[in-house]
Amino acid sequence: MSAPLVDAEYMAEIERARRDLRALVASKNCAPIMLRLAWHDAGTYDAKTNTGGPNGSIRFPQEYSHSSNAGIKIAIDLLEPVKQKHPKITYADLYQLAGVVAVEVTGGPTVDFVPGRKDSSICPEEGRLPDARRGASHLRQVFYRMGLSDRDIVALSGGHTLGRAHRERTGFDGPWTRDPLKFDNSYFLELLKGDSEGLLKLPTDKVLVEDPEFRQHVQLYAKDEDAFFRDYAESHKKLSELGFTPP
Ligand code: HEM
Repeated sequence: MSAPLVDAEYMAEIERARRDLRALVASKNCAPIMLRLAWHDAGTYDAKTNTGGPNGSIRFPQEYSHSSNAGIKIAIDLLEPVKQKHPKITYADLYQLAGVVAVEVTGGPTVDFVPGRKDSSICPEEGRLPDARRGASHLRQVFYRMGLSDRDIVALSGGHTLGRAHRERTGFDGPWTRDPLKFDNSYFLELLKGDSEGLLKLPTDKVLVEDPEFRQHVQLYAKDEDAFFRDYAESHKKLSELGFTPP
């Protein structure tokens, strides 16, 4: 599909959609699943073949029914009325805008948002998103495939400061932090503390403290929230623009 024409009217529509997204996230407390949707649409990117990525293809049953996307349909459905109200905006832009708004509204950094993503109806094959049961080499394989770095892996994993796992969706259960609707550096503080009653650590969270290269970034982000916010904003922008050349 062709790229949207990003003119003054498109930009104005983005700002109107941004206001609607803020209200939606506030009224439904759905920031976590919005961030997860943005990440799962983008995180299928393969730099070698320039396929997957933030292109809205996750809206199709063929993709949202992948086991790693369990529960994501909730976010797709919540965003459909916003799409209907702002039909000019591509799904690809809308999903990434929702991720940026989710971080901002919960107290996180401002992530720069550049519109103009094309929608695609080609769904990537299952298995491109990381498997929470696996280790450091798997994480690296998946994120390096997207063209992202060790620092991006750790900063972006800080997205788990928001939300929780749901047993009925993925078999995992519970939040990573004591305040899952606040975007802060508590995910890293909890990682360094080790197991805590009532809090979740996935195998792929635990490797961030076990692997010496990852651990350096965890230690920095735990002691310096500004450093986390700076790196997170940069990595999130990269994730949201994989395979996308701004117009
Ligand atoms: C939730 C895995 C990276 C944001 C989850 C869940 C799993 C998971 C298993 C639980 C889903 C459920 O049961 O509802 C992973 C793995 C990652 C990863 C293996 C590899 C590093 C990321 C990244 C972000 C992110 C990069 C965003 C920047 C979230 C959010 C939730 C979540 C916000 C909570 C969703 C909710 O509350 O409904 N993740 N994730 N994750 N993930 Fe990740």
